[in-house]
Amino acid sequence: MSYDVERVRKDFPALSRLIHDDRPLVYLDNAATSQKPTAVLDVLTDYYERHNANVHRGIHTLGEEATAMYEGARDTVAAFLGARDRREVVFTKNASEAINLVAYSFGSSLRAGDEILVTEMEHHSNLVPWQLLAERTGATLRWLSIDLDGRLVLDDLDTMLNDRTKIVAFVHQSNILGTVNPVDVVVRRAREVGALTLLDASQSVPHLGADVRALDVDFLVCTGHKMCGPTGIGVLWGRFELLAALPPFLGGGEMISEVTMERSTYAEPPHRFEAGTPPIAQAIGLGAACDYLSEIGLDVIAAHEQELTAYALEQLPTVPDLRIIGPRTTEARGAAISLAFPGIHPHDVGQLLDEYGVAVRVGHHCARPVCMRFGIPATTRASFYLYNTAAEVDALVTGLHEVKRFFG
Ligand code: ALA
Repeated sequence: MSYDVERVRKDFPALSRLIHDDRPLVYLDNAATSQKPTAVLDVLTDYYERHNANVHRGIHTLGEEATAMYEGARDTVAAFLGARDRREVVFTKNASEAINLVAYSFGSSLRAGDEILVTEMEHHSNLVPWQLLAERTGATLRWLSIDLDGRLVLDDLDTMLNDRTKIVAFVHQSNILGTVNPVDVVVRRAREVGALTLLDASQSVPHLGADVRALDVDFLVCTGHKMCGPTGIGVLWGRFELLAALPPFLGGGEMISEVTMERSTYAEPPHRFEAGTPPIAQAIGLGAACDYLSEIGLDVIAAHEQELTAYALEQLPTVPDLRIIGPRTTEARGAAISLAFPGIHPHDVGQLLDEYGVAVRVGHHCARPVCMRFGIPATTRASFYLYNTAAEVDALVTGLHEVKRFFG
């Protein structure tokens, strides 16, 4: 059966909004955050209206219900990511916190002379924690560069990887370029030198899903709000034996085994890494989002987005002087497209598009080194998701023609 995008759109109340009184919302800022379907909103309301209690504490009915819902969400997320063991799923506040957790806990074993390898296309969330770790330990931060098509220069692996490399932390799908990186190549090469791998899958999991066993990485992070779930919830998946060997990140309630005034012992993963009252409603909402996406089918979603991206890549060059920053074909690329007009500031582009109801993101997208690589201060980024349509691509392209006419 063909994909019924109009039916999918009905699941998202925000998509029926009008902007500036009479403009239908054309929401193309999905790489920043996705809209939420009724299936997720209803679960959140149900939790707060009927089951709200703290988890792992009360033996009263609501406490048991909330705990079952929270731990049930862990089962759902574990299955969604293809994890072998539910204890490999740690709930965090967001993907940044998940990366900081690994950089802190795994990083505590690093010494001066050790090396950390990242790439030039990382979101700041997968760069700054490693910079902090390097500063703290004296380890050296190195990176793979990107070419002018927005692809990783994989030949850099030959010079960057060596037996001092302790971890390779890299993005699956670039939030700014849309590039999808060859995980298998990087993982294989990292393994050869005995380095661990961390995959920032924040921008890929919402669109492609993930199978941690097939990806064969050691750690993977993603975030709920970009995949139809609530804000305030991220996921760290890690191989159990690795998580079990890591010291805690944040201390507090829930993460301990025994506490005396002098010292404490710590719970097994995942609870060792979930100090304090966790994001209960948010985890439950994320579980509902995983169910929602699975019901539609990640392969169906990916195919729909590929079609939209192909159409956009065909139509965007009709706009005079518009530059696409990143891959110009759908080959190994996702549905985020960065654009630049020489001489027109992206903020002006974004503001004028908004007047037409078209929501895009402008700026360096927390990936400033990528902008520097391309010699531009910022880009205008359109990013598509399961509910976008070809007519919305047309609205974007028409708006960009207007921008060009208006600003010359
Ligand atoms: N990381 C998000 C983005 O790329 C916020 O827009």
